[in-house]
Amino acid sequence: MDSTAAVIPRTKSDQLEKVTPAQSISRTASAETILAIDGNGGTSLSRKSSFGKRIISPGRKPGHHNRKSRSAQLKLDLEDVSSGAALSRASSASLGFSFSFTGFTAPPEDIIADLRIFSDDDNAKDLEAGHVRTKIISEPTMPIYIKFTEVRYKVIIKGVTTSTEKDIINGITGSASPGELLALMGPSGSGKTTLLNLIGGRISGNLVEGSITYNDEPYSKSLKSRIGFVTQDDVLFAHLTVRETLTYAALLRLPKTMSRQQKKDRAMDVIHELGLERCKDTMIGGSFVRGVSGGERKRVSIGNEIIMNPSLLLLDEPTSGLDSTTALRIVQVLHDIAEVGKTVITTIHQPSSRLYHRFDKLILLGKGSLIYFGKASEAAVYFSSIGCSPLIAMNPAEFLLDLANGNVNDISVPSELEDKVQIENLGSDIRNDKPSPKDVHEYLVEAYETRVAVKEKKKHLLPLSISEDMKTTVTAPRRDWGASWLQQYSILFLRGLKERRHDYLSWMRITQVIATAVILGLLWWHSDSTTTKDLQDQAGLLFFIAVFWGFFPVFTAIFTFPQERAMLNKERSVDMYRLSAYFMARTTSDLPLDLFLPIIFLLIVYFMAGLRQTIGAFFLTMLIVFLSIVAAQGLGLAIGASLMDVKKATTLASVTVMTFMLAGGFFVKRVPAFISWVRYMSFNYHTYRLLLKVQYGKAPPSLNIDHLDNGIKEVGAMIAMVFGYRLLAYISLRRMKFCAA
Ligand SMILES: Nc1ncnc2c1ncn2[C@@H]1O[C@H](COP(=O)(O)OP(=O)(O)O)[C@@H](O)[C@H]1O
Ligand SMILES: [Mg+2]
Repeated sequence: MDSTAAVIPRTKSDQLEKVTPAQSISRTASAETILAIDGNGGTSLSRKSSFGKRIISPGRKPGHHNRKSRSAQLKLDLEDVSSGAALSRASSASLGFSFSFTGFTAPPEDIIADLRIFSDDDNAKDLEAGHVRTKIISEPTMPIYIKFTEVRYKVIIKGVTTSTEKDIINGITGSASPGELLALMGPSGSGKTTLLNLIGGRISGNLVEGSITYNDEPYSKSLKSRIGFVTQDDVLFAHLTVRETLTYAALLRLPKTMSRQQKKDRAMDVIHELGLERCKDTMIGGSFVRGVSGGERKRVSIGNEIIMNPSLLLLDEPTSGLDSTTALRIVQVLHDIAEVGKTVITTIHQPSSRLYHRFDKLILLGKGSLIYFGKASEAAVYFSSIGCSPLIAMNPAEFLLDLANGNVNDISVPSELEDKVQIENLGSDIRNDKPSPKDVHEYLVEAYETRVAVKEKKKHLLPLSISEDMKTTVTAPRRDWGASWLQQYSILFLRGLKERRHDYLSWMRITQVIATAVILGLLWWHSDSTTTKDLQDQAGLLFFIAVFWGFFPVFTAIFTFPQERAMLNKERSVDMYRLSAYFMARTTSDLPLDLFLPIIFLLIVYFMAGLRQTIGAFFLTMLIVFLSIVAAQGLGLAIGASLMDVKKATTLASVTVMTFMLAGGFFVKRVPAFISWVRYMSFNYHTYRLLLKVQYGKAPPSLNIDHLDNGIKEVGAMIAMVFGYRLLAYISLRRMKFCAA
């Protein structure tokens, strides 16, 4: 799992020479043992820390944790590279994607195997010994009692000609109180995520029926800041360290009443409480950068939410893809969080038996219907009371999941179901000795309806005995932003710089620009403009410069927003910052590099090609190129933001850019009147004309260029594009729906 060309020699010799088996186990375990260590590190701890540092070296093989989103991105990268349409994109080596060419080298398989000793899968024993800290942010929280009654949700599936309705959730009733850990269990596709989203107020509209109340009040926007939602896929910045991630979250999310230092301290508290001290300076990691382990990642995601001290914490499959010990630790953390008075609801898939016993309450779903709601410890009693109990020793969770799936192998079946089997067998040739999953499901749903549901629903009708101000907090108007606009801007700006710090030193981009410049310089070596032919050649160079610095920025900029879509979605759905602050930060943080590259480019081309040798002409050319870049970036941002999909955006961008290039005034001079307006929208056209103006003072007649006066019109048009396209991008982002799905 952990493998880098750079660490191989050391790691191997470590293993051969120094590490006794016992040591290596404890060292391995340390990748996941933080909670368990608590100061008894000794010699192994110092070894660990040096190992910890090595983890951050680049070029790792992706970890094999359950990281759907990132593996999807990897796929996209590969597709991008291989598709022909992506050539221009590849050449522009977008900021975000450049690492896919530089940072990824897969080490040989045998070396990977050798390094397996460091994987966090083999560390079970050592972890067992540890106990978990119990102090989780214990400042008072407004308690939230949550009740959901007869919740139904359906989706409309649109076919080609017809649209059908599909019930996803069928009348679920349940509740959770502060201090309780409620688990939602059920087979995959049973509606756990959907129910969690409903509880979190992330799905609304007329397809939702029933009531969900928080302290007996319906959902309101002010709850956003009191609900923490940990989604199944961790959405985190790959290049930020654990500490940076949590500090930025604290700075953005904590209320203004806290000082900057207090917010930072809070971030450190959370790191401490989640046992992340040992990896606090490790990068989170992504598909191309190896970072923290899966369990640590998950805890960072949880930390991101508990940092603002939520009253209600919702988690979607926080343990999926983790080994059972790590899973147990995460659930223990949740248990501790609940203990200090928060309401914690988590969906869970295949818990181990020990993990199961950490749950206070349980909701068991099967195909969107409720099969059990109640104390987790009483589930077995309930099911045996309706005639279902395990015939062999079984993990209770496995037993429940089998039931929810309708699988009754090794489970005793009530007589009603047996009768059904008999009746079915009468009418058919095939003899079954077990009831069908459908029958089991129906039986269980009905049994719950008749025996328990009525009582539960009655309980729900009684109002809670809570004070009035607990209700009013739910309905209170929205809380203030955590930071002022300027603070948000600077925090996001810094975070953006940190996240992309590696791309800034992308030697690939720099090499690409330098190589192009040198080739141009050689081809146009000491060109002059005395004869018509020479002049036409030189005009060709100027046009190429206009096109190059029109293409490059567009294809870099279109990735900006689609790439951060998941993050933007997540952070905007909890009102972490103003969109305008984000937008400004994101669009300005890339400018320094974008303006640095053309300087190198021009320094090479300008003098090699022997363009007009005055300081004024050189700087004006530079300014024109800057303007072209900023305008082209605007177009890229607008296309990216309006489509929010890299593939679609690239296609649209290549068509647009090509049109602009063709209309740029070099290839075709006498454009038919009905299409000639296109060139006014083309930044290539304006840039080209301005470059000609700077070189020759006026358009040389042999080039057959339209009348060119002082150039104010061109500059004005470009400035309008700089702002116009950005405004368009901003509006598109605003209109983008920020929702869970
Ligand atoms: N918007 C939707 N459109 C169509 N089907 C949906 C939609 N949302 C959920 N479903 C379906 O509802 C079922 C439950 O989904 P989900 O809540 O994600 O299940 P779980 O989290 O338990 O695996 C699945 O069969 C899923 O395909
Ligand atoms: Mg799910």
